[in-house]
Order: sequence, then structure tokens, then C-alpha cells
Amino acid sequence: MIKACNLYKSFGEQAVLCGVNLEIQKGEAAVILGRSGSGKSVLLKHMAGLIQPDAGKIFIGDLEISSLNERELLEVRRQMAVMFQGAALFDSMNVGENIGFSLYREGKRSHSEIAKEIAGVLELVGLKGIESKWPADLSGGMKKRVALARAIIHKPSIIFYDEPTAGLDPIASDSIDKLIKRICEIRQVTTVVITHDMRTTQTIGEKVFMLHNGQIYLTATPKELFASTDPVVHNFVNGISDNKSNLT
Ligand SMILES: Nc1ncnc2c1ncn2[C@@H]1O[C@H](COP(=O)(O)OP(=O)(O)OP(=O)(O)O)[C@@H](O)[C@H]1O
Ligand SMILES: [Mg+2]
Repeated sequence: MIKACNLYKSFGEQAVLCGVNLEIQKGEAAVILGRSGSGKSVLLKHMAGLIQPDAGKIFIGDLEISSLNERELLEVRRQMAVMFQGAALFDSMNVGENIGFSLYREGKRSHSEIAKEIAGVLELVGLKGIESKWPADLSGGMKKRVALARAIIHKPSIIFYDEPTAGLDPIASDSIDKLIKRICEIRQVTTVVITHDMRTTQTIGEKVFMLHNGQIYLTATPKELFASTDPVVHNFVNGISDNKSNLT
């Protein structure tokens, strides 16, 4: 479903992706791990067709998206949803308007049909009936759920989540993780989650990719990841710094 072949991307002098290869199957739940600044968000933006690589190719199904024009890309992006790091909602719109935003803008369906869709996704994320609440009045966990509802309303076949549980307490995180997994299973959505949270990795990941030094350093199951004796992997999983790193 998603395939990255030999991706390279630099910003000025800084090489961020240096030959990334990965493959994610249809309906699979994949987790991408890596240290802060390792290029996870940059990789996600490539897969979502939001930035172009300097070299290499990205396939969504049979389509090579790195060579499409804007109009063709829009068509491909229609089947994707991205929940960005931070999951910002529009503060000037209530929950229902936030969730229905893309459907209202499309203007293809009546307001009552859209309202029904909004009610349905809110129920799915466990927040039935909160359409008229304002983002400012929601907890962090509720905001993430609303962002999730907004991501799934147009029934995407691929969802990218960039650190979906950042800033949440462990219990709220766990419930978001389970919700992501459930949506993946019941809607058969190809799911790509960026995280550095080991519990998230354990709960969601069928396949785990670890990004390190601009490449996929490891492709494994969570079980293999946790059992790895490779020093880079072991230190990452257990949060051990090597003191030689220039990242803090
Ligand atoms: N548009 C851009 N212009 C210049 N540099 C960029 C741009 N986007 C990302 N970078 C740089 O690329 C590197 C990787 O960034 P990225 O956001 O992918 O890291 P990350 O792995 O997602 O980190 P975190 O876990 O902190 O979110 C960083 O050093 C960042 O400063
Ligand atoms: Mg990031």
C-alpha cells in the first residue's frame, strides 16, 4: 500500500533522509520510531505527498506519487488523513464544525447528512453529543479524540498519526492508542503512527520501523524490538543516552 524506495532529503547542508526504504501493507498498523530530530515527521510528510524527496520514489498502491502534479496529488491525498503533531483544532469553530469542516467545504452533501456523519464519528471516538462544545473547553485527551474524528470522517484508506499521544497522561494515551488500533481494525485502514512511546508501539504496532542516521535501521515486530540486543536499538528502547550524541 505504501512503499518508499531509496528516499533522500536534505534541508540546506543537513541531510535528514539518506536512503530510506520501507513497505507497509494494506490494512497494516505500522509504527515509526526514532529519536527527536531523526526525521520522522519529514518522512511522514513524504508519504502523505506533502513534500517531495530530493531523490527516490514513493508509491501509494501502484501510483508513484513523487512524480504526480498538484491536481493528481490532491486526488491521492483524498484517500489519506493526517493527524499532525499537536492535533490543532480551529478554536473559532465548535467541535461539530471542526469535524465536518472538509465535508462542509466540499459542499456535496446536505447539512443534515453531514450532521449525521459527525454524530457517527463522535460516537466512534467515545464523545457522543459534544458537537456544540468549544475546543477551549476540552481536555487534551478529548481534543485528540476530536482530531481523530476529524481525520476519519471522510473515510480515508490510510491514516498517518504524528505523535498522537504526546502530552497526554499514560491512561489517556493508552485509550487513544486503543482507539487508533480499533479504527485500524474495524475500518481496515492502513495506519502509520509516529511515536517514541514504547507502550504505543506495543499496543498498536504490527510492524515497527526505526529511523536512525537517515535510514531505516531496523524493521521488526514489537516483540523483536524489545528483545533486540543491538546497542542502538536497546538504548533507544530503554532510554539510555550514549553521552557521545550531540542531541540532547
Ligand atoms: N522545512 C524544513 N526546513 C528545514 N529543516 C527542516 C524542515 N523540516 C524539518 N527540518 C529538519 O529536519 C530534521 C528532522 O525533523 P523532523 O521534524 O522530521 O524530526 P522528528 O524525528 O519528527 O523529531 P520530533 O520527534 O522532535 O518530532 C530536524 O533537524 C529539522 O530541523
Ligand atoms: Mg516530529
